Amino acid sequence: MSTAVFPALIDCHVHFREPGLEHKADMATEGLAAFHGGIRTVCEMPNTNPGTHTVAAFADKVERAKRIADKCDIRFYFGAVASAHVAELEALWTKPENEALKKRCSGLKLYLDNSTGNMKADESVVEEAFALCGRLRIPLVAHCECSSINNEAAEAHPPTTVEAHSKRRPESSEVTSIRSAVTLAEKHGTLLHVAHLSTAGGLELVRDAKKRGLPVTCEVTPHHLFLTTADYPEMQSRIKVNPPIRTHEKEHLWVGLLDGTIDCVATDHAPHLMDEKALGPNAPSGMPGVEVVLSLMISVVAGHWPHPTAPPPACLTAGKDGGLEGIDFAALKMLMFTHPNAIFSLGCDAKDAIEVTTEGERIIRNEDMHSKCQWTPYDGWKVKGRMALAVTRSFNAVFKVRCCVSL
Ligand code: NCD
Ligand code: ZN
Ligand code: ZN
Repeated sequence: MSTAVFPALIDCHVHFREPGLEHKADMATEGLAAFHGGIRTVCEMPNTNPGTHTVAAFADKVERAKRIADKCDIRFYFGAVASAHVAELEALWTKPENEALKKRCSGLKLYLDNSTGNMKADESVVEEAFALCGRLRIPLVAHCECSSINNEAAEAHPPTTVEAHSKRRPESSEVTSIRSAVTLAEKHGTLLHVAHLSTAGGLELVRDAKKRGLPVTCEVTPHHLFLTTADYPEMQSRIKVNPPIRTHEKEHLWVGLLDGTIDCVATDHAPHLMDEKALGPNAPSGMPGVEVVLSLMISVVAGHWPHPTAPPPACLTAGKDGGLEGIDFAALKMLMFTHPNAIFSLGCDAKDAIEVTTEGERIIRNEDMHSKCQWTPYDGWKVKGRMALAVTRSFNAVFKVRCCVSL
């Protein structure tokens, strides 16, 4: 058995849907879900309604987040679709009166392709944004795909299957997009963080950029680590997501985690209601993850691959007599605390601690989810190990709150 205590974790990629999409999720429900998943700090994306494109919209989100501050410390990405939004970001970053707001900003999120919210930035805006972020040292997170879908919702011929959705966003689309993002980052000296990396080709580009000393980092999601297209028959449009679930790339992503090319595990927690996800190929892309990611990862540390039917990646089992090896608690702390904390200069400390152990097991269940959408792609999966949250208060008392279903 192994146990560890580390600071409550950070998820540097979530969508909490407030304001504007509160029927799917809101800061209170998703902040609570994160809390129950051992995550205390999140960086939230700008594809809300309105989009987080102005100082005023940003300030509104910061104000709303105060309600849930005792459970979840929400930082926000600024978004930019047009030139005016880049100017707004500059104002947020440089005007003395915005100093307090700037502290709540984790960086700029740039969509190089359309995804939920259709926030693809114009070509000229992309270059402008890389330049500004390079000059002001603002971390720039890029959604890297280039499938030339101008407006997914308005497409004359929507894909008729979830597989067809995947085919429209092939591996090469991500690789091409990451290549141009790295080129722009190099040109402008931008701190580039590649969101939800999902391909071996993309991984190779990040590996190469790091070797050349460029400030390029990346994250991987639990769904790209644990699911493949073999899960489509069972999970169907519930796992429709951008970038899509892949067929073979999972193996390479785990290698990237083990060799340190991948800096963070981040969930891309993108809740949609079950009713919406039941729309087959017309379902919105994205799935929740913030409440289960730690359980899935602890299970791997505990030597149990949680997928009920698919085998674990070869790099975790090679020569290990059927067990899993390669990710330990020290690595997990790096991936889910130390690295995101450093990349986005979040200044998180060990104020709240979580205890994790490889002992015990449980079944992940939809009905245990705190997220407003009340489902998880991993419903029914058995995970080994568990965690507890130890909240240290200022008067030095230590409370232990069981965060998992009791075992
Ligand atoms: C995300 C969402 O629903 O907000 N969807 C997704 O498929 N990943 C948007 C995004 O991260 O691209
Ligand atoms: Zn994205
Ligand atoms: Zn996302």
